[in-house]
Amino acid sequence: MQKAKALDAADPLAHLREAFFIPDGMIYLDGNSLGAMPKAALGIVSEATGQEWAAGLITSWNKAGWFDLPTVYGDRLAPVIGASAGEVAICDSTSINLYKALFAGLSLRPKRHVILAENSSFPTDLYMVEGVLASREGLQMRLVEDLLSAIDETVAVVLVNHVDYRTGALAPVEAITARAHEMGAVVIWDLCHSAGVLPVGLNAAGADLAIGCTYKYLNGGPGAPAFIYCAARHLPHVSQPLSGWWGHAKPFAFEPGFAPDAGIRKFLCGTQPILSFRALEAGLEIIAALDMAAVRAKSQSLTSLFIELVEAGVPALTLASPRDASQRGAQVSFSHEHAYPIVQALIARGVVGDFRMPNILRFGFSPLYLSHMDVVRAVAILRDIMQNDTWKDARFQTRGAVT
Ligand SMILES: Cc1ncc(COP(=O)(O)O)c(C=O)c1O
Repeated sequence: MQKAKALDAADPLAHLREAFFIPDGMIYLDGNSLGAMPKAALGIVSEATGQEWAAGLITSWNKAGWFDLPTVYGDRLAPVIGASAGEVAICDSTSINLYKALFAGLSLRPKRHVILAENSSFPTDLYMVEGVLASREGLQMRLVEDLLSAIDETVAVVLVNHVDYRTGALAPVEAITARAHEMGAVVIWDLCHSAGVLPVGLNAAGADLAIGCTYKYLNGGPGAPAFIYCAARHLPHVSQPLSGWWGHAKPFAFEPGFAPDAGIRKFLCGTQPILSFRALEAGLEIIAALDMAAVRAKSQSLTSLFIELVEAGVPALTLASPRDASQRGAQVSFSHEHAYPIVQALIARGVVGDFRMPNILRFGFSPLYLSHMDVVRAVAILRDIMQNDTWKDARFQTRGAVT
């Protein structure tokens, strides 16, 4: 308790909590699934609807800059993930961007036919690889536990999840990229669980392609548009299959044939969800102003304290995340046979985490709006629920559509 208070008193990010809506009495440990709402989003969305849409109507494509938002916001995100201006576009969903990135990677290695991925990947990643395989003959998906040792000269594209969605384990993306390049392959980084919460060094690692979402640690809102990164050196050579008019070099020339934009806009497809874009602006503004090293240091401090307190007070749970803070992202997972009802009992008491199959209790620690005292309080509630078997109550056993 004293330790947590001292850590909070010295926390350089503590003031940021005021920038977010956090419901009274809630300890929100699910920012790794849907980030909290920045207060500024309310004003921006109100302006986007009340003025830009209601009053500006179609003129807002030019006057409010709607048409350029994918690259304007992409440039704002770029430094957060170690990219340069012109290498990132905000658009579509992560799954759709992954489809584009997979084909883009294949377009850079036309003589190769293997997509290599981890069998522990987030499921949509592998479903999208299956979709690519179904759209083109002769391709093959190879699933492995350890990417580093499996990359060989047959591999065209390696797909790696920077942070494992179940365990929070960090993948050695830099080493995987270096090995892939030695073997002549290209790599796609899935940054869903790292963008906005860890320093990501795309250009420093010589990365090729990356995708990720903005509704987790970037606090863009439910269904916020995702991002796609392509290294500048690949842009002139790469192609993607969703060749819609927004990716055309001259969309308003209305020419009959498709001619891709020369830059990152070639990854766009069609009209974008502008209201969702405008909501995302608030989260981007907050994160773009921060030192990612400080964000990382606080997340390590929060997760380490959580592990220490749970292991001391709730021995029935087994740690499912790396113990070494440098080896995990901003989430901590524990396993328990009855993980689902325990998570429901926690939510009923205001401690919001989530459940992942088959037996994982998952907790995300956004350093922007959580304190060390939140961690202390959350563990006290968890301990109470376990000691009193509250989770056995019938109302905690029924599963909702979203877990
Ligand atoms: C690692 C990872 N990849 C991809 C996705 C899919 O994102 P979307 O549903 O936005 O397409 C998620 C969603 O949580 C994810 O965690």
